[in-house]
Amino acid sequence: MPKVRFVKENLEIEVPEGSTILEASRQAGAPEGDRCGGVCACSTCHVYVLDGFDRTSEIEDEEFDILDKAFDVRMTSRLGCQAKITGDITVEITDESFLAFCDEHPEQKEAALALRARAKAAT
Ligand code: FES
Repeated sequence: MPKVRFVKENLEIEVPEGSTILEASRQAGAPEGDRCGGVCACSTCHVYVLDGFDRTSEIEDEEFDILDKAFDVRMTSRLGCQAKITGDITVEITDESFLAFCDEHPEQKEAALALRARAKAAT
């Protein structure tokens, strides 16, 4: 099974091939926004695939259209709810997505901040 590493949280998880990055972040407990529920309509699941971009599914036109709404879009940008995993990848959840998660889940905000702080201290 492919391994997904979330660098800003220092979390790693194995998921079945074909899982989305958003599904992986949920399973790993990594704070990734998903305001529209994963239907390619909000851009709050914006991530950077730092390693293994070619081990994700191709970007469809619909994803490009929604990525246009995200901040600081880069060559490595993907929508976590659309990118399917085909091999080992390393992912950075954007600050935009992290903040969206904290807005969506205020009860988990402190834990999410602590997770990132611990990961940063460990590097
Ligand atoms: Fe809304 Fe991915 S969760 S576009």
